[in-house]
Amino acid sequence: MRRYLVIGSGGREHAIAWKLATEADTRVYVAPGSAGIATTAGVVCIDIAPSDHDALRQFARDNDIDLTVVGPEAPLVEGLADRFREAGLAILGPGADAAMLEGSKAFAKEVMRAAGVPTAAGRDFDELSEAIHHVQSAAHPLVIKADGLAGGKGVVISEDVERSERTLREFMADGRFGEASRTVVIEECLVGIELSFMVVTDGRAVVTLSTSRDHKRLADGDRGPNTGGMGAITPSPDTSAALEEQIRDQVIRPTLAELERRGLDFRGFLYAGLMLTAAGPMVLEFNVRLGDPETQALLFAMEQDLGPTLLDAARGELRDGSLATGRHACCVVLASEDYPLSPRTGDTIATIPRPTDQMIVFHAGTGTRDGQWVTAGGRVLGITARANDPSEARKLAYAAAESIEWRGRQLRGDIGL
Ligand code: AMP
Ligand code: GLY
Repeated sequence: MRRYLVIGSGGREHAIAWKLATEADTRVYVAPGSAGIATTAGVVCIDIAPSDHDALRQFARDNDIDLTVVGPEAPLVEGLADRFREAGLAILGPGADAAMLEGSKAFAKEVMRAAGVPTAAGRDFDELSEAIHHVQSAAHPLVIKADGLAGGKGVVISEDVERSERTLREFMADGRFGEASRTVVIEECLVGIELSFMVVTDGRAVVTLSTSRDHKRLADGDRGPNTGGMGAITPSPDTSAALEEQIRDQVIRPTLAELERRGLDFRGFLYAGLMLTAAGPMVLEFNVRLGDPETQALLFAMEQDLGPTLLDAARGELRDGSLATGRHACCVVLASEDYPLSPRTGDTIATIPRPTDQMIVFHAGTGTRDGQWVTAGGRVLGITARANDPSEARKLAYAAAESIEWRGRQLRGDIGL
């Protein structure tokens, strides 16, 4: 029996827990999980917060957990993986130092420069006056990014000097994201198609996962505000085996080599958000975790077991390989009214269809009240379907998504198009 502990409570963690629980002879715990995640066969939720590192460590020890898998970035940046490894417990996720690849965009930029990884030209600033001076003579549009974690909201594409100055004041002087936006990165605006490229690594060997495409804007046709992601498909229609090899060899491997050169141990998921430009793939950002909602599509499509690869990576015994499959999947996110600005919660969800072999509903932000499902977050459900071709996966996901109703629920109609 293999025993896993998954940290987190969203749609991505639901998908990870579901996937591990489908594998032979496993038992999966999720901390803290959610009422929705707890409905998954073989999955038990335990009431420990991701920030309570001592309690998580104690639980892993007391319950003979073979591997802990960390879903979100915050516990990694806070050093959860370091605490586990100090205690001799297997955990998949980088330590706090290497997690800065996501936790500081200035650090990520510096690593990329040192490693020769293609990325937008940019500079970081921690003085408002210097940043303002820079944008006054810089070509627009340009991109302003809060250095630290800002929940996917710390990026502004600015069309003119006035907007740039306003954004810099909000970020650096007013502290819109607290300490996370006291430093900013200002970079050139890249044009192209976006691609999510994720791997499992032990710092040296790399196992690639299927590529995916996320849809970040709220409304159809990529309009409206940025969100955490309104849907995803896998594999991305925009790649080829040659391009994936190029990304692995020109982005992933040099980045890992540079981290190793600095004495940073990276065992975990490495996610490169890329822009496919006329000049080739360029990195927009690194994440040190799986994407949400890309993971829901990716793991539902995956035909191989995931657990053994994760264990090998955590132990530093990984061999190069791939967990990509020929299957396609589409995840359509249902969000609550007024997401992402001020999502309303507490609305009753009429019915949630039961999973079939081709369709599953992953819970991102639900709760229960009087025995009924209610909305409890911005992104509420990820309706995910798999098939042998992309249009069938899309059709199945939308048929199920449209059968789920609540007041003000939002969805995009063009995921995968
Ligand atoms: P990030 O959090 O860095 O992934 O940025 C969020 C989104 O902003 C990305 O998914 C892109 O759509 C956009 N973005 C980030 N950096 C750039 C860039 N240099 N050029 C164009 N768009 C960008
Ligand atoms: N879906 C984008 C992310 O997880 O960062």
